[in-house]
Amino acid sequence: MDGKFNAAQKAVEFVKSGMVVGLGTGKTSEIFIKLLGKKVKEDKMKVVCVPTSVRAEKVAKRAGLVVRKLNEVKGVDLAVDGADQVDTKLNLIKGYGGALFREKIVDYGAKRFVVIVDESKLRGVLGGWVPLEVSPFAAEQVRRELKKLGMEERTRMKKGRKFITDNWNVIIDVRFARINNPKSVDALLRSIPGVIETGIFSEKVWRVIVGTETGVKLLS
Ligand code: A5P
Repeated sequence: MDGKFNAAQKAVEFVKSGMVVGLGTGKTSEIFIKLLGKKVKEDKMKVVCVPTSVRAEKVAKRAGLVVRKLNEVKGVDLAVDGADQVDTKLNLIKGYGGALFREKIVDYGAKRFVVIVDESKLRGVLGGWVPLEVSPFAAEQVRRELKKLGMEERTRMKKGRKFITDNWNVIIDVRFARINNPKSVDALLRSIPGVIETGIFSEKVWRVIVGTETGVKLLS
């Protein structure tokens, strides 16, 4: 079996009837959503889901899950989400799919945040492109500020146009060779007016489920 599938399948075991579950975005999360839909139906569980993107919402509805907006629930018990990179201290880079803003809100707000990845996402130290969700109003000024800080940046494009998030913002990706201190890099980037959120997740992870070809490893 594939690592993403094994991680997603293990995460389903953490869901209990009566829970409000935050649904992440991306391929691994979509596998989780489909498996959860199946389990909820088979075991007649009462589960309410809060998706982190329009895409996740569609997949959840198709899987037969009950979907609510974050403002319509009293809180999220468990968030299950993928990641693009996971370091040895369980810091993450997320947002290669562009959903980082809602993901951070739902994942950080949940009582428990479980990350599901395959082994290809594991790193000694985070590094490479970090996505920033940026207000279109401020985008060019933010780019100038990043350049002043000596950072390589690029505006994310899709089919020849600027990529637009579910919140009608743009994504600017910033490159770092190594991120030795994720918390301070996150704080520095968020201090630039116009940067709404970053893809550095340096808090709140309860468990990381790493799917391998034969099973799973749990990191906490
Ligand atoms: C979406 O914006 C991301 O944060 C995803 O959670 C991340 O890209 C992982 O996606 P995959 O499971 O598709 O690798």
